[in-house]
Amino acid sequence: MMNLPRTVVAETLDGLREEDPVAKRSRRDLQRVHRVMGTRSIIKRAVNTLLASRLTSQPLRILELGAGDGTLLLGVAKALSPALGRVDLTLLDRQDLIAPSTVDGYSKLGWIASAEVVDVFDWIAGNVPSMSSGRQFERWDLIVANLFLHHFEDHELHSLLAAIAARGDRFLACEPRRAQLALVGSHLIGALGVNSVTRSDAVLSVRAGFCGDELSRLWPAQTADWKLTEYPAGLFSHCFSASHQ
Ligand SMILES: C[S@@+](CC[C@H](N)C(=O)[O-])C[C@H]1O[C@@H](n2cnc3c(N)ncnc32)[C@H](O)[C@@H]1O
Repeated sequence: MMNLPRTVVAETLDGLREEDPVAKRSRRDLQRVHRVMGTRSIIKRAVNTLLASRLTSQPLRILELGAGDGTLLLGVAKALSPALGRVDLTLLDRQDLIAPSTVDGYSKLGWIASAEVVDVFDWIAGNVPSMSSGRQFERWDLIVANLFLHHFEDHELHSLLAAIAARGDRFLACEPRRAQLALVGSHLIGALGVNSVTRSDAVLSVRAGFCGDELSRLWPAQTADWKLTEYPAGLFSHCFSASHQ
């Protein structure tokens, strides 16, 4: 199989303003892309596995990094409820994209969802007052990232994964798989009727994606008491999960 080097290039959607009609259309395209990629069931399966050993009856605290409009995880939440009981969910993104109807959708499931509009590097640095008190960071039962890690270079991922390991008990990432089939698929994505931004970002995303054990290698080495699992999922995705033992 062709060995594709990992290249991270800024995606067009990230440079567009929230209210730009082209960006809005591209975000709607993303929901269609998720259906084709089977993202919802990939995440649902992985979350079920990660939470299987959780014994406490306390409300579950979940943080999604790079949550976008929050609709992907809402679909997962519908498939997981009511088994999880009450969930406190924080949707972090540097753009303000969560519609009130999405928050309502979560509350119908008994999930209390709130948006944090901040750059993830501020979260890493502890510059989000609502998410830390003094030197104490909020802790999460589960941190999730979908189509997010691939935005970053390895040295940035080092800091991000270290912050995640320090503040969460479990972590799941679902990212583009950097492989020939996914690359071919990304070039054919126009067949879904998506716009030009989605078409070009799909190719860039695959080129910045992951394969093998690349994310495990970036996980902080001193955290030996974590169980790491990294695997191809569906036709186009690559998952990484970490669970504190
Ligand atoms: C490809 S979208 C994925 C959205 C959602 N997770 C999904 O799968 O539908 C990536 C998201 O990451 C956000 N993002 C990119 N860089 C970020 C950063 N440095 N801090 C916070 N969010 C960021 C973008 O605003 C965008 O909403």
